[in-house]
Amino acid sequence: MSQEEQKVENMPESDAFMDRNLALEVVRVTEAAALAASKLVGRGDKVTADQVAVDAMRDALNTMHIQGTVVIGEGERDEAPMLYIGEEVGDGKGPKVDIALDPLEGTDITAAGGPNALAVVAMTDEGGFLNAPDTYMDKIAIGPGIDPGILDLDAPIGDVLKKLAKEKDANVDDLMVCILDRPRHEELIAAVRKTGARITLIGDGDVSAVIATTDGDTGIDLYVGNGGAPEGVLAAAALQCTGGAMLGRLVFHTDVERERADKWGITDRDKIYTTDELAKGDNVMFAATGVTDGTMLRGVRRYSGGAKTSSIVMRSKSGTVRRVEATHNFKRKDWIKSI
Ligand code: FBP
Repeated sequence: MSQEEQKVENMPESDAFMDRNLALEVVRVTEAAALAASKLVGRGDKVTADQVAVDAMRDALNTMHIQGTVVIGEGERDEAPMLYIGEEVGDGKGPKVDIALDPLEGTDITAAGGPNALAVVAMTDEGGFLNAPDTYMDKIAIGPGIDPGILDLDAPIGDVLKKLAKEKDANVDDLMVCILDRPRHEELIAAVRKTGARITLIGDGDVSAVIATTDGDTGIDLYVGNGGAPEGVLAAAALQCTGGAMLGRLVFHTDVERERADKWGITDRDKIYTTDELAKGDNVMFAATGVTDGTMLRGVRRYSGGAKTSSIVMRSKSGTVRRVEATHNFKRKDWIKSI
């Protein structure tokens, strides 16, 4: 072992974790999943699209020098053969990290060839992510530079929008609110419309919608509504890196979901979690690669023998946001079996 390698080996885990800058490695993982899923865009088969993304992501994760544990994954061990919650990934030798992932965020979108499908991975120190069961979550999110104190999951949405308009030195009817287009949001949509604020209704993909609040170019000022809880943790990981804030509250529909929450140590089922409680700490990293074109990323461009991907990689420690445009030569990439 060289002196330099010895130095890294002897470092405390968290220093070594930062030193190796895993973020740049993580993007290879999301690229692999996006490349695999991109073959299925618009093919009407969300199950296969998800499966190939899972396979590719798992293969790529297992090339990483980490002792990784999946804490947000494809589901419980008995229902997900791969990337299930608790699965250990990586070569088992590097730093210990917890991993939140969604190999294909937007399975329906991919099947239909719609916008904003992503492959997503977030990592942090052990214990840094909320062990969110696979249930729903009420969410409200804003971008950086705004007092997080204006966020409230229980106040009338008109009150939140008034405060947000004041913070942004705008009028309420200048604001753009993003909401998942679901029957369960009928009242919310009506209440927002009553204020005069504008709405972008999305069919799916609320990780990308939350992140959109952090980028002025998207024009999205607020994300609000009820979506997947695992997606809430992933979105919080991104906000921890870029700035911005969200609140999330788990919503349970069945006893099975409640039992799962008990199993993961959630004692207060009505608790409202802040960004820090969903994804805490200085060592959060987040990577996403576009599968289809979206507000944040371009989708995969495929051509004979290769493809181009567009990714974003962020670290909470530095607040650095990197955009990675990659050209892949399939003939030389033997480690991605499923692309
Ligand atoms: P999938 O990739 O698992 O299909 O999730 C897509 C998504 O739109 C998420 O972004 C969102 O959080 C969730 O589904 C909303 O759930 P539902 O479609 O049941 O309303």
